[in-house]
Amino acid sequence: MSVHDALVEGGHRVIPVGIARDGAWHLSDPTFRPFRADGRAVELSVPAGVLRVVDHEAEFDVVFPVLHGPQGEDGIVQGLLETCGVPYVGCGVLGSALSMDKDLAKRVVEAAGIETTPWQRVFRHDWDMGQRSVMDGAAHTLGYPMFVKPSAQGSSIGVQRVEDETRLKDAINSAFRYDSKVIIERAVDGREIEVGVLDGPRASVPGEVIVENGFYTYDAKYADDSSRFEAPAQLSEAAARRVRILAEQVFAELGLSGLARVDFFYDRVSRRFLFNEANALPGFTSISGFPKMWIASGMTYAELCSHLIDAAFTRHEERSRLAIR
Ligand SMILES: Nc1ncnc2c1ncn2[C@@H]1O[C@H](COP(=O)(O)OP(=O)(O)O)[C@@H](O)[C@H]1O
Ligand SMILES: [Mg+2]
Repeated sequence: MSVHDALVEGGHRVIPVGIARDGAWHLSDPTFRPFRADGRAVELSVPAGVLRVVDHEAEFDVVFPVLHGPQGEDGIVQGLLETCGVPYVGCGVLGSALSMDKDLAKRVVEAAGIETTPWQRVFRHDWDMGQRSVMDGAAHTLGYPMFVKPSAQGSSIGVQRVEDETRLKDAINSAFRYDSKVIIERAVDGREIEVGVLDGPRASVPGEVIVENGFYTYDAKYADDSSRFEAPAQLSEAAARRVRILAEQVFAELGLSGLARVDFFYDRVSRRFLFNEANALPGFTSISGFPKMWIASGMTYAELCSHLIDAAFTRHEERSRLAIR
């Protein structure tokens, strides 16, 4: 695991903890692939923030979360770490939760005057009350093709491109398997431009996901090689500057901290950037987009890791200085 190796090389002592499917925390062997959380059981004590490994305690200074999706990237683990008073890398509870919920993130970003892909949100209640009116409403305001997604997921899970009415109902039903809120978006003919952001906010050079068939699916992300990531993205200087500023604004508006990757579509027709989503815990292996963009901006992977750890301590100290009453 890249983060593990970089931290060890940087002189840190790492206690790798994995989360099993049932939610239990275990010591894990990061060199074993596929990664398995099957070592001795651990628990984090509240409020002392001590890791109890079966019956002996391990002291640590900071947590580096390397997680994806709901129950990890959405503020839940961050809330636990806050409760334990433990410094941790990355975004806090609000920024994590807000960027996990695509509908709410788009609302906040749009309210700040940043363009986002036109969308409609559907609560399960609306869908149960009238499928016809939801589908007609989407066709009327957005038009085909559309993208249907669970509002809070990731890794393209439950995301479907819908070409016409025949597939819309199934797509919405399957998105509702993952969340009780679904968003329907107008399909954009755009390049997928991403920006890494660190505290400041400070944006990296933009990168681009180049996908074979215009849809960055789960398999394209993790399983096959039908996509590649280019950093820096081939953009004019002015366009690159524009998207970096937008990414920094999104970082601030969504209350993000530590690190985040902000994703846009660069509309081929209007030549405008449309906010797609923000990721509070972006992929972080040495071949993931986020580190690649920082490496292209002149930082090494190891520098990035130690910068994030320093930022975790700074944020923790700042928060502990805040008045409670
Ligand atoms: N409105 C859209 N227009 C065109 N392509 C889209 C749109 N929404 C999503 N996609 C495609 O689907 C992929 C996954 O959607 P995204 O909203 O990024 O969800 P996730 O959080 O799962 O990454 C995107 O990377 C892009 O390839
Ligand atoms: Mg995405």
